[in-house]
Amino acid sequence: MDIQNNISLQELNTFGIYAAAKQFVEVKSENDLFALYQNHIFQEKFFILGGGSNVLFTKDFEGTIVKIANKGIQHFIEGSNIFVTAAAGEVWNDLVWYCIDHNFPGLENMALIPGTVGASPIQNIGAYGAELMMFFYSCRAFDTYTGEFQTFSNKDCAFTYRDSIFKSKYKGRFIIVSVTYKLHVHQQKNTSYGAIEKELEKRKITNPTIKDIAEVVSHIRVEKLPDPSTVGNAGSFFKNPVIPTAQFEALQAVYPTIVNYPMENNQIKLAAGWLIEQCGWKGKEIGEVAVWKNQALVLTNKGKASGQEIFQVSDFIIQDVQAKFQVTLEREVNIL
Ligand code: FAD
Ligand code: EPU
Repeated sequence: MDIQNNISLQELNTFGIYAAAKQFVEVKSENDLFALYQNHIFQEKFFILGGGSNVLFTKDFEGTIVKIANKGIQHFIEGSNIFVTAAAGEVWNDLVWYCIDHNFPGLENMALIPGTVGASPIQNIGAYGAELMMFFYSCRAFDTYTGEFQTFSNKDCAFTYRDSIFKSKYKGRFIIVSVTYKLHVHQQKNTSYGAIEKELEKRKITNPTIKDIAEVVSHIRVEKLPDPSTVGNAGSFFKNPVIPTAQFEALQAVYPTIVNYPMENNQIKLAAGWLIEQCGWKGKEIGEVAVWKNQALVLTNKGKASGQEIFQVSDFIIQDVQAKFQVTLEREVNIL
């Protein structure tokens, strides 16, 4: 294992932002983690990096970037349950396609979400009617405080919309080395998300396979979201805000077309993209930063933006949405 000094992170984050890391190391095995622990790397400043698709570097990183790069996918079948275990460094979409190729249903609605398996529980990734927490069974994680491994069950992770215990109580403490997903042979297919049904109809598919669903979802995503290999971005920059029903009803009285999704416990999720668009930000550019023309929730790097500039624009957006709707947007992207 090679610890490198003064490494550019530009190729390692999907915003394509230039920032330097004081130290950089790739972890390919659990032994590598023990070695780093013994070298006291976790007693100094460090950051765990997967695919860099949910981070914004606003300055150089004065510590060690630990990139998780272990590999391997296995499964076993027990009755009608399928347990699939993947190493944290596997690309998420490769895992989705491993499942599709083996005809294991469940993850197909989350096809083409960028990033790694190890990051999938961190913000409980989700898309097109599915959420990680529906299929997460357990994960194995290295405790950087004690140097020991621990297993977290689904319940332990305290998943909610775009959140888990790894973003709150245990933020920055545990390094996930593998995740086990529990799938079910008879999993009901989910095509209820409007855009999926429309696209299936267009393709004249009446009884879709999980492969059809993954292909349709991937197609919709490519139409809507910028491809990080050509336009730097980190997907939704903000979370969709969740507000009490009473507050929503007051807003709806003034803005009857406000996009909303009822949730449990008398709460309503609003579409942040709609709120941002209503404030006139869709497609707007400030210097090297642009709000995506097809999706106002996505901030993009036109090429030479700095992390600071992107952060600044996100601040302007938060202020405008607050002023117009009295709703506070929270960033989904991890700011460094
Ligand atoms: P990184 O960006 O490298 O890290 C994200 C966070 O996870 C950091 O806090 C990091 O420290 C932590 N982390 C990473 N790996 C580990 C590990 N092994 N152990 C402990 N902590 C770790 N997200 C969705 O939920 N749904 C979407 O539909 C979606 N669409 C997107 C579309 C685009 C075009 C882009 C660029 C992003 C999108 N995202 C979406 C966001 C992103 O893909 C997810 O958050 C993804 O899980 C991030 O994975 P990563 O490996 O790139 O994590
Ligand atoms: N909308 C607008 N204007 C916009 C964007 C959206 O009015 O510029 C409205 C549309 O009316 C649409 C609604 O908002 O009906 C929702 O839009 P969309 O279906 O694109 O989904 P989203 O809520 O903006 C969320 C996730 C995405 C995920 C999609 C699909 C969050 C923060 N984002 O976006 O996840 O892919 O749903 O399930 O929850 C990510 O987290 O990075 C991400 C891309």
